Amino acid sequence: MPVRGLRNCSQIVTMASALKKDGRKIVPTDLSVIEDGAVIYDDQAILWVGRDSELSDEMKRVPSRDMRGHVVTPCLVDSHTHSVFGGNRAVEYGKRLNGASYQEIAAAGGGILSTVEATGKLGRTALVESGIARIEAMLARGVGAIEVKSGYGLDYDKELELTLAIDDLKKHFKGRARIFNTFMAAHAVPKRFATSNDYMRTEVIPLMHKLADFKAIDGVDIFFEQGYFSREDTILLFKEAASRGLALKVHADEFNDNKGAVLACEHGALSCDHLLMTSQDGIRALAGSPTVGTLLPGTGLFLGKPAANARELFDSGAKMAIASDFNPGSCHCDDLALIASLAAPLYKLNLGELWVSITLNAAHALGYKDMGAIVPGHAPRFTAFKCTTIEEVTYSWGKNLSVGVI
Ligand code: NIG
Ligand code: FE
Repeated sequence: MPVRGLRNCSQIVTMASALKKDGRKIVPTDLSVIEDGAVIYDDQAILWVGRDSELSDEMKRVPSRDMRGHVVTPCLVDSHTHSVFGGNRAVEYGKRLNGASYQEIAAAGGGILSTVEATGKLGRTALVESGIARIEAMLARGVGAIEVKSGYGLDYDKELELTLAIDDLKKHFKGRARIFNTFMAAHAVPKRFATSNDYMRTEVIPLMHKLADFKAIDGVDIFFEQGYFSREDTILLFKEAASRGLALKVHADEFNDNKGAVLACEHGALSCDHLLMTSQDGIRALAGSPTVGTLLPGTGLFLGKPAANARELFDSGAKMAIASDFNPGSCHCDDLALIASLAAPLYKLNLGELWVSITLNAAHALGYKDMGAIVPGHAPRFTAFKCTTIEEVTYSWGKNLSVGVI
């Protein structure tokens, strides 16, 4: 197996200490920065990391890239996106700026259902092509692992097609980006069903079992929220998915405190996401659980919602991630580093918390325990930024300093 190296890196942000602390209660020194660093790896794993001056003669002979003037981090991980869809909702965005709420637009037949209509006009090839373009753009910004949800079909055949399109994306990007395929037919209730539970029992659960048979999906998700899916629906999905060994994720406590975070922890979900309204019991549950709490600050900002109780979540010892939630409605932004830059002062995060949220903890939100740190044994997936200190990356917010994923 060919062995390679990255040498003379201005800094390597290894996250070694953050990894030892399981991504909790992070302080800036947990970034474990190595100045003038080198890393040696093969196709499967990182073999060695340290200061360039400490390389053995044998390691110095390994074919290496000179990374002078670059900071190297674990690849960024976007653990929550809805990247496969048709059309756009710019008109709704205008309506929201002019006073309508996200829920009012949805109640009038817009929102997710309007993207469902636009997505219905695209076949699998067009869906895959637009997905490739979107994922290429994320890769160019240094994101090397991406979760992609279905959920704009809301019909047995269309959701099947969306999942297979995500599977095509997974194969297309193999070796360049890891794609986590999340089945989210429980994204909104189609108008033809009287209740969310009818839809769950008639289409969502049977299709989930079929996709599990195909081994096409990695996990499931559900929009547990008033006007969308209930606690009972969420528990049904969790039980059925767990019986097939699938990972559980949930859109939780976004507009109301539905105790979604508590429920996610009780069921051993990989992550619960949004958490705008999560209160003390949810925070306590996350603090004592392996379930990752994922904040989606771009969505709160774009919808003009009050920020999540982030400081308390981080201080409690919960394992916290930040993701883009890239989607056509509530956050039409795929720039994870920009979102984290904006979130840090909003949430009052230190630099260690900022970076752990988009690398190590985001990887854990996808069950990727071999990602998110530059330590021996971890997957060799790095992001290089054209600058000499880690501070510069998010200091230059909105500017892409990444030279891509290595
Ligand atoms: O995470 N909350 C539900 N799903 C998306 C929004 C999807 C849409 O509006 O199209 C979210 O914000
Ligand atoms: Fe979402």
